Amino acid sequence: MIGRLNHVAIAVGNLASAMKLYRETLGAEVSEPLPQPAHGVTVVFIQLPNTKIELLEPLGEASPIAKFLERNPDGGIHHICYEVDDLLAARDRLKAGGARVLGDGEPKIGAHGKPVLFLHPKDFNGTLIELEQI
Ligand code: CO
Repeated sequence: MIGRLNHVAIAVGNLASAMKLYRETLGAEVSEPLPQPAHGVTVVFIQLPNTKIELLEPLGEASPIAKFLERNPDGGIHHICYEVDDLLAARDRLKAGGARVLGDGEPKIGAHGKPVLFLHPKDFNGTLIELEQI
């Protein structure tokens, strides 16, 4: 059901220093920061030959990654995103198997302008999983 790894998202407290780390220390191609107020984050995309890394910095008062950074002040892997052909079919299959979909269970438009859903980390080995319709 799941396809390619679309991205790994890393929450960071300081986007500028994380960008510098990836650009200068790791020698990666790093985009300019893209504020996404609707998602409560500013995102930087790092294109690797086989996948992407996304750096997420909290934006605004009610950022969904604020609590994560309180628990992980140095930052950390926040979620991984798998591609699926049919998001609604994937959702229904997962729910039928007992997995919990976060929020109201309806797809939202994600950071790439495509529909996404998040799955409860307690049902997936402690990993927050994003599914993105390709
Ligand atoms: Co993501």
